[in-house]
Amino acid sequence: MSTLNSAAAELIARSNRLGADPKNTNYAGGNTSAKGTETDPVTGQDVELLWVKGSGGDLGTLKESGLAVLRLDRMRALVDVYPGVEREDEMVAAFDYCLHGKGGAAPSIDTAMHGLVDAAHVDHLHPDSGIAIATAADGEQLTTTIFGDKVVWVPWRRPGFQLGLDIAEIKAKNPQAIGCILGGHGITAWGDTSEEAEASSLWIIDTAAAYIAEHSKAEPFGPALDGYGALPAAERLAKAAALAPTIRGIASQDRPMVGHFADTDVVLDFLAAAEHPRLAELGTSCPDHFLRTKVKPLVLDLPADASVEDSIARLKELAVSYREDYQGYYDRNATPESPAIRGADPLIVLVPGVGMFSYGKDKQTARVAGEFYTNAINVMRGAEGLSTYAPIDEAEKFRIEYWALEEAKLQRMPKPKPLATRVALVTGAASGIGKATAEKLAAEGACVVIGDLSLEKAQAAAAEIGTADVAVGVQVDVSNADAVQAMVDAAVLAFGGVDLVVNNAGLSLSRSLLETTEKDWDLQHDVMAKGSFLVSKATAKVMIEQELGGDIVYISSKNSIFAGPNNVAYGAAKADQAHQVRLLAAELGEHGIKVNGVNPDGVVQGSGIFASGWGANRAAVYGVEEQDLGKFYAQRTILKREVLPANIANAVYVLCTAELSHTTGLHIPVDAGVAAAFLR
Ligand SMILES: NC(=O)c1ccc[n+]([C@@H]2O[C@H](COP(=O)([O-])OP(=O)(O)OC[C@H]3O[C@@H](n4cnc5c(N)ncnc54)[C@H](O)[C@@H]3O)[C@@H](O)[C@H]2O)c1
Ligand SMILES: [Zn+2]
Repeated sequence: MSTLNSAAAELIARSNRLGADPKNTNYAGGNTSAKGTETDPVTGQDVELLWVKGSGGDLGTLKESGLAVLRLDRMRALVDVYPGVEREDEMVAAFDYCLHGKGGAAPSIDTAMHGLVDAAHVDHLHPDSGIAIATAADGEQLTTTIFGDKVVWVPWRRPGFQLGLDIAEIKAKNPQAIGCILGGHGITAWGDTSEEAEASSLWIIDTAAAYIAEHSKAEPFGPALDGYGALPAAERLAKAAALAPTIRGIASQDRPMVGHFADTDVVLDFLAAAEHPRLAELGTSCPDHFLRTKVKPLVLDLPADASVEDSIARLKELAVSYREDYQGYYDRNATPESPAIRGADPLIVLVPGVGMFSYGKDKQTARVAGEFYTNAINVMRGAEGLSTYAPIDEAEKFRIEYWALEEAKLQRMPKPKPLATRVALVTGAASGIGKATAEKLAAEGACVVIGDLSLEKAQAAAAEIGTADVAVGVQVDVSNADAVQAMVDAAVLAFGGVDLVVNNAGLSLSRSLLETTEKDWDLQHDVMAKGSFLVSKATAKVMIEQELGGDIVYISSKNSIFAGPNNVAYGAAKADQAHQVRLLAAELGEHGIKVNGVNPDGVVQGSGIFASGWGANRAAVYGVEEQDLGKFYAQRTILKREVLPANIANAVYVLCTAELSHTTGLHIPVDAGVAAAFLR
């Protein structure tokens, strides 16, 4: 492998440093470039190249594979065939004909700016401080006041080839300039060396921030609004959890969404001030911001102490007007060539005193949408502190949101996994069948909440699956109603709601009738019969409020059907669970909630139940060695196969897929065939 060109290596190091500090740019926002010379393997001659961060990815973690590599002579030659601003989009396809070698990432829309500006190193960034100046009503004047002639104002223009030409011209005409403020959008800075470009970027960002800090009016968002201050933390989270299912339903009318909740000071302070309704209505400005947050958020116009019932009623009214408003925006701005409307639901919902709910096709997207609205609040604070916040107008926002190039990007997205957007809650998922089920559901695209007795084990199981964007672990004793509610609240705050519940927590005591104590009986019934009742009750409430249907799956047992010795407490509790399946299937069907069960048998591998005495006991009952129990069970079955946790997990998964959309009240035996437990 050839060594990386030193210009490109410096570029990556600089990008990683800039991207590591959120003051410099939003997540995955902005792009950077370097120009340098390399030997062309075809001619043996020197060739001038441009390394530029490609489409997608984040500066903070940029690697060589995230760079597009273009030949500078060919890139510059595009100027001679450029057909004018009306057809500037065609130039993006032309970039592919400038590529040098196989390269890494696809060239982004901003490639022209990097290639055409005559500087060895160029940074294009979205710093909150810079965008504050860029969105101030008198941004042009402020630019001169703050930066003198070192930074030049470039009026708003949609990113593309023409913007690249504009910036190149400004640089040529202003040799003293180190960068520019891009109206409504961000900053671009340059230097002859990587250090110089980085210093230029940081100087603009820090100078803007310092100027705002020094000259901002005291209350940029206006005076405090009576009754709109933050609720105390515990009350805030309780109200957030109570509202979350309804709000997720509102955000998921066109397509189901995963949610994220944030109650940071930035959000709560914004909502506590008098100007927040006017500013929220103006919407975001930087293209990166509104592509992820929609042009504007939905804001609940009730004080912090409004009841949950009143809040829900008002949110539902506001959702109707939000959708009408968005449809109006689409209708006003769409042309016959525009892509179809992509859905009219809000992606950001703000609740005074409580916080911000943000939505996306997965947890990461939902979380980043929230981060971007936080960036937008910072931008508004800066702009209002110095001047008046004046984002780009809606026609321009529409031109970006429904840009053919943006649409093409969306069309290129990989097909979502079968359980994408679904939030699963699996009880007893730190071990055995539950753990395998959580892993399977996550592998098929679900976000997973793992509830178990030990927080440490639940979190460890979640960490094995992935980051907090995929799985979280929560402590719960399912036999305790308050603990169950706390688990469901945690799930709702982590991912926005709950769609798929697996009642798996359980334990097994193998005792004869005469040996079974009252305590044994109660424990078996508390954890399995009552526990799954409590979990079904708390989660069905969430699902009913979401209006998105759902699935509840009970891990029952062969022993709910089959009668054997030494099993009265366990078997009776399992039969109770099995009948809950039928009862709840009958009751919850009107809400689109399916309730089904799985009847496993003889799952020895990975099972805590078997490891902690039950296995030894069963082995003794059947007269075999404990380590041979799995094989012994296999020989009892019709198929002569050992049943593994993954087999149960697969059955749970299938019950929840679209393929079984018309099945409820069913139990699937996963026992390798036990005739005595056949259902009839
Ligand atoms: N292993 C089998 O052969 C088999 C057969 C039929 C049914 N099942 C059922 O499958 C389920 C899972 O069993 P497994 O074999 O994976 O056992 P396991 O012991 O490996 O897992 C059960 C998990 O449930 C948790 N749990 C127990 N009580 C709890 C409570 N009060 N609150 C929250 N979590 C609690 C445990 O901590 C454990 O992590 C159980 O309901 C069991 O009855 C198992
Ligand atoms: Zn940009």
